[in-house]
Amino acid sequence: MQGVNDLKQGERQELAGRQGERGPEHVAIIMDGNGRWAEARGLPRIMGHRAGMEAVRRVVRAAPSLGIKYLTLFAFSTENWRRPRLEVEGLFALLREYVEKETDDLKAHGVRVRFLGERENLPQTAGKVIERCEAETEGCTRLTLNIALNYGGRAEIVRAARALAFRAAGGELEPNDITAEVFAGELFTRGMPDPDLLIRTSGEMRLSNFLLWQLAYTELYFTDVLWPDFTQDHLAQAVAAYRKRERRFGGVHNRG
Ligand code: FPP
Repeated sequence: MQGVNDLKQGERQELAGRQGERGPEHVAIIMDGNGRWAEARGLPRIMGHRAGMEAVRRVVRAAPSLGIKYLTLFAFSTENWRRPRLEVEGLFALLREYVEKETDDLKAHGVRVRFLGERENLPQTAGKVIERCEAETEGCTRLTLNIALNYGGRAEIVRAARALAFRAAGGELEPNDITAEVFAGELFTRGMPDPDLLIRTSGEMRLSNFLLWQLAYTELYFTDVLWPDFTQDHLAQAVAAYRKRERRFGGVHNRG
């Protein structure tokens, strides 16, 4: 039987339908299973994260050919600080490596990079690398790659509420003027559409404090594939599954 990994480029596009026609415009991914991938091979966990970084390269390359305009990856949560110090340091080293090595290439492929999350308590070197990468890729328009780093959904909502409270207290805004749109304007994702599709790998079925506001009407797709094994064809498969779904946004069936 032909596996999804054996698909040729043309077949992959056919599986996913005509590119861009029916979305998804924005895909968010919880990249889970790096640790289990490494443990299954008797390797240290950081080797799983390194293999996960290769999967990041693959999906970033493949996303535009599937019509995706925004790709949001959960790289490090506010809860991930609880991991052993060596793993945390290893993850930040990998992120730095990715950004330093890839920025020129990302720019050449029209990828704008944004980082979502709290910057204050990031290691100083990471902060500098991030700012440089954002500035260098600012004018790119083919794909926006959001890397969620030191990100937590509840903290993001609290931060937005606090910003609005300060604006109201300062007389800049009436409490009655606070709408969902005004609120969304205070989130890290301001100006971007909400994700159409969320993918979580490795068989876990939860949101883990990721994009809690933005995922309100997002289609959810779970796969048992561990993140380091995730390929362009798995991404095309998720896109194809999305295109078969009927989105109603709280309305009723559209029977034409
Ligand atoms: C979850 O797997 C994965 C992470 C916490 C980190 C994701 C980071 C990368 C893919 C590295 C590079 C990222 C970029 C953007 C270059 P886990 O460790 O929780 O796996 P487990 O559940 O099997 O233990």
